Amino acid sequence: MRRPTRSLLVAAAAAALVLPLCATTAANAEPPGFSHSDKNTLRNQAPRDLAVGSAVWGARDLVDYDPSAPTPFQRVLGAQFSSLTPENDMKWDAIHPAPDVYDFASADALVAFARANHQQVRGHTLLWHSQNPAWVTEASQTWTCAQARDVLEDHIRTVVGHFKGRIYEWDVANEIFQDTWDAGGVRLRTEANPFLKACADEPVSLIGDAFRWAHEADPEAALFLNDYNAEGINEKTDAYYDIAQQLLADGVPLSGFGAQGHLSLLYGFDTSMQANFERFAALGLQVAVTEADVRIPLLPGQTGPTPEQVALQAERYDAMLEACLNVTACRSFTVWGFPDSKSWVPGVFPGEGWATIFEDDFSPKPAFDAMLQSLREATPGISPRRH
Ligand code: G3I
Repeated sequence: MRRPTRSLLVAAAAAALVLPLCATTAANAEPPGFSHSDKNTLRNQAPRDLAVGSAVWGARDLVDYDPSAPTPFQRVLGAQFSSLTPENDMKWDAIHPAPDVYDFASADALVAFARANHQQVRGHTLLWHSQNPAWVTEASQTWTCAQARDVLEDHIRTVVGHFKGRIYEWDVANEIFQDTWDAGGVRLRTEANPFLKACADEPVSLIGDAFRWAHEADPEAALFLNDYNAEGINEKTDAYYDIAQQLLADGVPLSGFGAQGHLSLLYGFDTSMQANFERFAALGLQVAVTEADVRIPLLPGQTGPTPEQVALQAERYDAMLEACLNVTACRSFTVWGFPDSKSWVPGVFPGEGWATIFEDDFSPKPAFDAMLQSLREATPGISPRRH
């Protein structure tokens, strides 16, 4: 448990004081939250064993990074977070655009930025039904399982090997289960995922091997299952719980389970999130919140969120963070990008938005304040690490 006790708050505050990294620029020349030397940042208030991360929508934002002249976005990204996830730049279509072509340029830029800012990197993602390049979609129409396995093995060994030693957590298998409302209900995506489709007779074997190939390519990286609608205990997370047990029984180097945390104020919060994390932790796995955001629906004519909506958004972000802080196996909490102008939400959910923790001028929202306070009150725990 990482919950705060009053007697430990002094120790936590003392720890926070020694955590800040060396300042790269004079703190008092920057707005609050823009500098490594500002102790009131998410990364500097987090318990030592918890990475607090953000996705980066386009690592091209980082290609021209000049440490002596960072953009406001780069300053906030470097100052607030101890972990980065490429929102798109390590996906198949970005990094493996043609059968014999790997393009690491933008992902390398993100990794270089992370290194310069003393940040870890979450890799995302190696086996997914979406954002596959056209050549995969086309070739997969006629793949045998053996051919699909060869293509996936080459990709995983090449990509994970390229970043060996520089990625602390990989989302190996992303969204491999359908939703309750999909045809056939919650079951492995043996139709939408081209690799699972080609190996529909033995999909679990392929998933297990994906983890094995990744582990061989980088034995130090923690390897995750990851999905949305996977916060609480539900039919989908029951399926993940089952397959996690099966993979572990087969000796697969599975390290963790990630709940993405894409929430909407249209729906309630599933308070079984902590219990869900605890059951995966009881299997010896790490858990993580990997893509947190909380989108706000607007009524027609409404031009921005109401104070009540903003307050409820803060509660939801904080509830996810608390579920993580309350389980020592939760090693990373990642928000899915910022500010709102870079969020994927409005493009996919018309009428919803304002989903991130920073305004477009990088001023913090109440959701940020709530999270900062919870981090400040948390205490370090000792987390298991399977691989
Ligand atoms: O790469 C093309 C670019 O060449 C083109 O110029 C541009 C024109 O709009 O589109 C670019 O592709 C976009 C890509 O992001 C990179 O920017 C796609 O249109 C766009 O659909 C894609 O959206 C991403 C989405 O995954 C795709 O499924 C979002 O940014 C990203 O936030 C989202 O992330 C997913 C996680 O990976 C998995 N969990 C759910 C989460 C939200 O959907």
